[in-house]
Amino acid sequence: MSEADQRIDMSKPHWRPACTSDLPAISAIAARIHPDLAERPEVVAEKMRLYPDGCRVLVAGEDIAGYGLTHPWTQNRIPPLDGFLERLPDDADCLYVHDVAVLPHVRGGAARDYIAAVAELARASGITTLALVSVYGTRPLWEHLGFRPVTADADLRAKLAPYGDGATYMLRDLAAT
Ligand SMILES: CC(C)(COP(=O)(O)OP(=O)(O)OC[C@H]1O[C@@H](n2cnc3c(N)ncnc32)[C@H](O)[C@@H]1OP(=O)(O)O)[C@@H](O)C(=O)NCCC(=O)NCCS
Repeated sequence: MSEADQRIDMSKPHWRPACTSDLPAISAIAARIHPDLAERPEVVAEKMRLYPDGCRVLVAGEDIAGYGLTHPWTQNRIPPLDGFLERLPDDADCLYVHDVAVLPHVRGGAARDYIAAVAELARASGITTLALVSVYGTRPLWEHLGFRPVTADADLRAKLAPYGDGATYMLRDLAAT
């Protein structure tokens, strides 16, 4: 057992790196939680290939009960939904939290733990900003975790449109928290 495993109580829901065999579970959770924002499994798989450190699943007992997908990106750019990234930017200045989704019965601390892990990843690679698009009225939750809304110009508004009404682009300055 690794040192990290010894620190984690495996009987409790915990995050671990995602692998391709998790794709069906990730798709099933996405279909349940994001029926209007569906992405093809191959689009998710590309993120896992490009930035495995940022792609994790939440294990609860024998089941996968959530996932988080994050990758290096450029501030004020929003990757198209269900679109391939092709490659990561050489001049990445943020880690972009593409999606975090957790089944209702394991909510409560899951997003906090995932974002803490992502913040650690960012710091380790010299990146001082996290970015995301808040949907489904989650803005207060992200604000609680240190994200701040960005006033969207016309370009950003156009990119936010596919995410639905109320979608908000948010940044967290890791140097400030
Ligand atoms: C969003 C989601 C991942 C959050 O998961 P979760 O495990 O319930 O989140 P957490 O409990 O870790 O919440 C993080 C913190 O925000 C707080 N919080 C939750 N809702 C809040 C709200 N409405 N206002 C302020 N703070 C809030 C929590 O109390 C927690 O605080 P703590 O760290 O001080 O204990 C989950 O609700 C989900 O999957 N929702 C559907 C998909 C979705 O909307 N994904 C986000 C896309 S942007």
